Amino acid sequence: CHGSGASGGPGFPNLNDDDWLWGGDLDAIQATIAHGIRFDGDTDTHASEMPPFTDVLDPLQTRQVAAYVWGLTNTPSDPGLAQAGKQLFLDNCAACHGDDAKGKAEMGAPDLADAIWLKARGEDAIMRQVAAPKHGVMPAWAGRLGDTTVKELTIFVHSLGGGT
Ligand code: HEC
Repeated sequence: CHGSGASGGPGFPNLNDDDWLWGGDLDAIQATIAHGIRFDGDTDTHASEMPPFTDVLDPLQTRQVAAYVWGLTNTPSDPGLAQAGKQLFLDNCAACHGDDAKGKAEMGAPDLADAIWLKARGEDAIMRQVAAPKHGVMPAWAGRLGDTTVKELTIFVHSLGGGT
């Protein structure tokens, strides 16, 4: 899934960069490998997920918040829309993605201000994510690989682009 060079692909994170959904220090990487992401068979798996906003934001508001998010790293299609989206972002998105949109590892919510896109490159794609979020899933490996192998993998993955 992450590619033989660990550089990822659409919907699958690049493990070489320094951008981490669930934290990039050794303990965080080990927990992710051992328990997986939204994996039914493991009670310690990372469970948080982005809710759909179709009942919360109308189509115009969805456009506005998408323009705001895209505008953090790119030129938005319409600066007026982006400006109107800022308050919507603070009210609806900042709890997980942070007031500064730099993400929160405890929520698995990605940094939206770094121009690294897992699935939502462009305003239309962001609107789709807000209306019908995609949730990445990864199996838990602790039971299959054992502690020693999980630790070895943790050190390897951390060496590719770990955080502190
Ligand atoms: C309950 C927490 C939560 C809230 C609230 C939330 N998100 Fe998310 N968001 C996430 C998670 C978790 C992911 C990563 C999904 C995955 O891992 O597959 C994500 C992913 C995204 C992505 C994809 C990023 C990429 O790299 O492709 C975008 C864009 C996004 N969110 C925008 C928003 C916007 C805009 C709002 C507010 C309208 C919002 N989110 C509210 C948790 C949240």
